[in-house]
Parts: sequence; C-alpha cells; structure tokens
Amino acid sequence: MSSVPAFLSAADVQDHLRSSSLLIPPLEAALANFSSGPDGGVMQPVRTVVPVAKHRGFLGVMPAYSAAEDALTTKLVTFYEGHRTTSTVPSHQATVLLFQPSDGSLLAVMDGNVITAKRTAAVSAIATKFLKPPSSEVLCILGAGVQAYSHYEVFTEQFSFKEVRIWNRTKENAEKFANTVQGEVRVCSSVQEAVTGADVIITVTMATEPILFGEWVKPGAHINGRPRPSPSQAPPFAARTISISLSGLMQPFENSPCSRLGGTRAIRRGGLRS
Ligand SMILES: NC(=O)c1ccc[n+]([C@@H]2O[C@H](COP(=O)([O-])OP(=O)(O)OC[C@H]3O[C@@H](n4cnc5c(N)ncnc54)[C@H](OP(=O)(O)O)[C@@H]3O)[C@@H](O)[C@H]2O)c1
Repeated sequence: MSSVPAFLSAADVQDHLRSSSLLIPPLEAALANFSSGPDGGVMQPVRTVVPVAKHRGFLGVMPAYSAAEDALTTKLVTFYEGHRTTSTVPSHQATVLLFQPSDGSLLAVMDGNVITAKRTAAVSAIATKFLKPPSSEVLCILGAGVQAYSHYEVFTEQFSFKEVRIWNRTKENAEKFANTVQGEVRVCSSVQEAVTGADVIITVTMATEPILFGEWVKPGAHINGRPRPSPSQAPPFAARTISISLSGLMQPFENSPCSRLGGTRAIRRGGLRS
C-alpha cells in the first residue's frame, strides 16, 4: 500500500450525498451496464453471506468492478435478526472499501450505512419509475426503520403521490415516522388496510414470515421488496398482474424464472419485465 487510505465517516458521506436523487443517474447507468452482461463491463457476483448463527447475525460481502468508471470496490455489511429498536447500534452496519484498480491499493474506507440506506432506496425508485402503474396515486410503506425513511425521502423527491400510508409492527414507530417526515402520512393499523388500493408498495421490515398477501394487492400495483437474507416478505403473486422488484440478489432466487436487472429483479405475470 503506497499511502494511507482516506477515511470518510457517515457525516462525510452524508455531506456528499445530500439528496438520494443524486444517486439516480449514476445508478441507472450502472444498472444498465450490469444488465448488458459482459459488454457492460460490470462484474458483480451474488453477495456472499456468512451466518453468525450464535448471535442471529450475518456478514455479507459484496464486491464489484465497473469498467466504465474503472471502479473497484467491496461493501462489507453485517445485519442482525434479533436487533432491538432500543439498541444503540443499527440492525445493519456497512463499510465500503475502494481500491485502485490498476494495482489493488486501498484508496478509501467509507462508512457504508448512509450509502446503503440511500442506494437501496434510489434503486427502488428507479424500478418504480419503470414498473409502477401510469397514474399512481397511493404509496404504501410497510416498516418504519432506516429504509422506510430513506425510501420516503427519495420517493417523495421523485414522484407525486396523493396519499402516503405506513404500517409498522410497532404502531408507535409508525406514528413517530409520520410525525418526523415533512409531508402527510396516514398511519394504518394493519398491513391489509395499508396496502388495499395502493399503487406502489414498499416492504422494508425484518419480518421472517410473509406479511403481505397477493389477494390484498390491487391488480397492476408495483411492489418494491427489500427483504432480509431470505425473501420472506415476498409471498407468491404469480397469478396477479403486478410487478415486483427485489434487491440484494439472493440465493433462493438464483434458479427462478426471474432474470437479473442490475441489483434489482423485475417480475411481471411471473416473467421478466425489463
Ligand atoms: N437489499 C438491500 O440493499 C437492503 C439494504 C438495506 C436493508 N435491506 C432490508 O430492508 C429491510 C429493512 O431494513 P432497515 O435497515 O430499515 O431495518 P431497521 O431499521 O432495523 O428496521 C426494521 C423494521 O422491521 C420491522 N420488523 C422487525 N421485525 C419484524 C417482524 N418480525 N415483523 C414485522 N416487522 C418487523 C421493525 O418494526 P418495529 O418498529 O416493530 O421493530 C422496523 O420497522 C431489512 O429486511 C433489510 O435487510 C435491504
């Protein structure tokens, strides 16, 4: 290593990423390059996940190289299922390492928590732009954690929904969310109440069992699933006219009929829609 790598704290990253929308053009380009296969010059293997069973945790390793930007990087992320809202540390903690592609030197160590929150939400927004029904009026968010806030931020920057609803396992946290964000948000008492009639649904919980069922979902609705390591928040919807995007390529989907769309998979009527 030739020189000391730069260190960017969460505050430093936040300073550079004041709006999640800033991420949308470069992420769209990266997703398009990834979807082009070898011609796109993006090497991004499926995330490797090491279970830390004793503590109900996981360590994920997510390396990537993009020839277009000549960028070589890896994210290291830990996530813990037994996480309590009262904990002083977040359920997901990430670090991003940036390397000099020409010789492999470590250039920078960056906080990955802000990047994870904003990047995930920005990719949902990109998928939603292409897959939502043309006149979408109702947005529904399931969950009230870090991802709920980051999705709300970018979705309200990018789209004009007439109504935003939220449901969360602990209703107080949904109410806190509604009182914290700038716009009006309706707190719902059940998942069914929240999703009924919604045009776009975002699932961002740590649920280990399905919480959302196809019969509640309006035909044509678009669902952004941001599931935990197993895709438990994404129940079967094959017979309905809906679209689903799932981020974080997961082993159980590797042999499914869905195809890759960057870090996002899009399914329509059981087949790929790109
Ligand atoms: N693919 C990606 O790139 C990516 C990146 C980051 C996160 N994610 C995923 O997004 C999801 C949310 O992450 P986050 O960072 O927002 O987590 P978080 O800040 O820890 O929030 C967790 C949320 O899940 C809820 N929850 C926990 N256990 C539940 C259960 N058994 N049933 C229903 N709700 C439950 C919590 O509700 P309470 O308020 O009741 O505790 C809270 O709303 C996770 O599944 C995470 O793995 C994906």
